[in-house]
Amino acid sequence: MSLFSKKSPAPSSNRPSGFEYLSAQDCYMDTACQSLRPQSVIDAEMDYYKHFNACGARAKYIWGQKVDEKVASAKQKLLKMVGKSEKDYTVAFTLNTTYGINLVLQQLPATGITSIVTSEIEHNSVFLPSITWSRRNNVPRRILKRDEQGNLAIENEDLRNALVIVNTLSNIDGRELPNVRDLAAAVHKESGLLFLDAAQQLGHDPNGLKGVDFDAAFSSGHKMYGPSVGFMIIRRKLLQKLQPFFIGGGTVADVHDDEFTLLSGQVDEHAILEPGLQSWAGIVGLDAAIDWLQSVKPMGKSPHQYEMELATTLFGELKNMPRVKLVNNEPRSVMSFSVDNLDSHKLAIYLSEQGIMCRSGHFCCHHYLQHVRKLPPLLRVSMGLHNSVQDIEKFVSVLGTILKTF
Ligand SMILES: Cc1ncc(COP(=O)(O)O)c(C=O)c1O
Repeated sequence: MSLFSKKSPAPSSNRPSGFEYLSAQDCYMDTACQSLRPQSVIDAEMDYYKHFNACGARAKYIWGQKVDEKVASAKQKLLKMVGKSEKDYTVAFTLNTTYGINLVLQQLPATGITSIVTSEIEHNSVFLPSITWSRRNNVPRRILKRDEQGNLAIENEDLRNALVIVNTLSNIDGRELPNVRDLAAAVHKESGLLFLDAAQQLGHDPNGLKGVDFDAAFSSGHKMYGPSVGFMIIRRKLLQKLQPFFIGGGTVADVHDDEFTLLSGQVDEHAILEPGLQSWAGIVGLDAAIDWLQSVKPMGKSPHQYEMELATTLFGELKNMPRVKLVNNEPRSVMSFSVDNLDSHKLAIYLSEQGIMCRSGHFCCHHYLQHVRKLPPLLRVSMGLHNSVQDIEKFVSVLGTILKTF
């Protein structure tokens, strides 16, 4: 007999606009990994492939010019999103957040830096490069705690000449970094550097980094309704400190037998972080994703309000399920939990059999989840702007049936 002989609740039909192409049965709840792409982003990428499929930064012909315009537009929009001027900051595109962090950290000499500081709830994309950088440069590394709201414990901490690298929104439980502005002030007062892992930030709160005085912020288009492409927003002065060795096409002004001169100057200097051809279609799609994100009003609400309403409903239901042990203390767009006597990977498979797609495991946060919190593999529900109230109702009903059976 099927577990679900009773009909599951009506699947989602009234999703926010942009996702009409989704099947009513699809209940995708893995936005923390990749958000779904609204139709306008898919169309923009398709438009590139069909109408101006050239490379940027090199080709003088008309298609190349159009790519350059789109790349410049995406860069301007990203800078505007975080409130930075082109005079002081630039944007470099990368593969993803992980790649961007490695690209900068591994090429940053330790000159003037006496410690590297990170936090306990970091993704491996921060945790691991901070370990390798510390080892390679023989610079001590410290792991600070984050409180229930996500504030980094900086009181009494010695940040003198520290390189601080932390996320602004956790992929475990959606905790933010409310004291990011104080942190930036404290780090810079002590002549340190602040790197932000903003992988989860901009898709949920596009304006959340406005006015934050960071030295570099790293993010992924695929977590903010764009295509698979990464980017960093980096202080120009920091670029000058890098010792680039990961270089090649597009990064040089001149080359001799055994010598080369890298591109430099206000216009070109980001190029040392963009060796080789880029994901041009991805950048074009990201340009469209930013427009979409800045104008979308799901069910007439702000994206943040809409997500919080879904999260609050789901959190209330999960809290009342006796075997569910939530990691979250508060409703957020990302919520993780374990279920007593039920393996989370099996649970993910049972949910998937009913069209519900959630992640199970430790979500690349092994240090915190396995070793600090000593938690078993978890189930993670991460919501996005394609989700509807019906998705939440379906999730709650299906989970309830699974818990009665197993
Ligand atoms: C907080 C956080 N940082 C970094 C990353 C790495 O992002 P990417 O895989 O796009 O490099 C992720 C991915 O889930 C993340 O959630």
